[in-house]
Amino acid sequence: MPDISISTLDIPEENAVEYFYNLETAKPDYFHVDVMDGEFVSIENVAKQEDYALKVSAITMTPYEVHLMAANPRYFLDYFIDNGADRIIFHSEACKDKDDCLDIIKYLIENGVKVGVAINPDTSFEKLYEVLPYIHMVLVMTVVPGAGGQSFKSELLSKIKDLREYLDKNDLDIDIEVDGGINKETAAQCKEAGANVLVSGSYVLKSEDFKQAIKDLKGE
Ligand code: DX5
Ligand code: ZN
Repeated sequence: MPDISISTLDIPEENAVEYFYNLETAKPDYFHVDVMDGEFVSIENVAKQEDYALKVSAITMTPYEVHLMAANPRYFLDYFIDNGADRIIFHSEACKDKDDCLDIIKYLIENGVKVGVAINPDTSFEKLYEVLPYIHMVLVMTVVPGAGGQSFKSELLSKIKDLREYLDKNDLDIDIEVDGGINKETAAQCKEAGANVLVSGSYVLKSEDFKQAIKDLKGE
């Protein structure tokens, strides 16, 4: 059964608290705090998402992960480490080289946080070969990062399948998360391909029944 992680990107500020209460009762496995720096992606929403992280910690018992869409991930780490993030995900495209990436991974692990590395649709997972043994999760973007409500790129299903095969063949017990355009149909396809953590924003937030939407994504 996959974990479901609810994106906070498009939760409206005016009634965010109400959303977090209602989503909490629907029993997601994680909240997915989407942080955008206005450089790695065009939108800038840092203050809003930092505030949402505090609200999630204060209001819910559900752990949260942070998806850092930032050109300089280091700039944002301490805030979320200090405010109870369970898992922090940064983009491999934001790393100068392998050592830069390993340095961030080492810092997060030393601070007791689980580590995920994200790859954009046109980035091969082969770029991660040397860091895979040190991380907990690979986030395979199934849309180009920068907005919610985009369509799922089905050409990425083979990438997920190949990555899962590579991890199994090398005895690497690492989660594969997918993010972007996840709904009932694409969730089933991603699970089939080997993903075990599914991020969803619009499919759940626009649904009439959060609990049922999460069950649909899990395939219950
Ligand atoms: C996009 C974000 C995603 C997005 C998912 O850059 O990283 O987490 O909010 O939203 P949906 O599920 O609507 O594609
Ligand atoms: Zn995300």
